[in-house]
Amino acid sequence: MQLSDLDAVMAIEPEIYAFPWTAGNFRDSLNAGHSCWVYEHGQSIIGYAVLMLVLDEAHLLNISIAKAAQGNGHGRALLDRMMEKAREHGALNLFLEVRVSNKVAIRLYENAGFNEMAIRRKYYPAENGREDAILMGMAL
Ligand SMILES: CC(C)(COP(=O)(O)OP(=O)(O)OC[C@H]1O[C@@H](n2cnc3c(N)ncnc32)[C@H](O)[C@@H]1OP(=O)(O)O)[C@@H](O)C(=O)NCCC(=O)NCCS
Repeated sequence: MQLSDLDAVMAIEPEIYAFPWTAGNFRDSLNAGHSCWVYEHGQSIIGYAVLMLVLDEAHLLNISIAKAAQGNGHGRALLDRMMEKAREHGALNLFLEVRVSNKVAIRLYENAGFNEMAIRRKYYPAENGREDAILMGMAL
């Protein structure tokens, strides 16, 4: 992902999240040196992911596939690629948070080998108050 990709990324983000990242959040991730990727299919960007690598730990901060492209295996392909990237950087474990209500994502992560490690209470903003996150992790 480069700054010039942010228009394409921001065309997807608000259509798939009730509480989307802002362009500034993506800019901060790029400036912080996180491992930021776009997922291209043909000529267009249909997804993206942001991976934070700290010593031997990796944290997946964002993984997204455009609404129209979902359910075709792209999310799993992108997740597999991020696991590979984390391994290449010497990470031993990969962690992520997911909303308790996000059954599709939880199923994707479980199928990929993630386990539930903890509940982070009221981690996310929600329509009615706050929502818990599941902290999931896997050994790479
Ligand atoms: C979560 C997300 C990245 C998955 O990407 P995707 O391309 O739609 O998913 P895939 O086609 O690779 O499917 C992966 C698994 O998700 C599940 N899944 C996908 N679409 C599903 C649907 N409509 N209903 C139920 N389960 C579904 C399946 O378990 C599937 O594995 P299987 O086919 O082996 O059973 C994508 O749906 C997305 O961007 N969602 C909105 C943003 C989001 O929630 N991101 C994650 C935040 S933690």
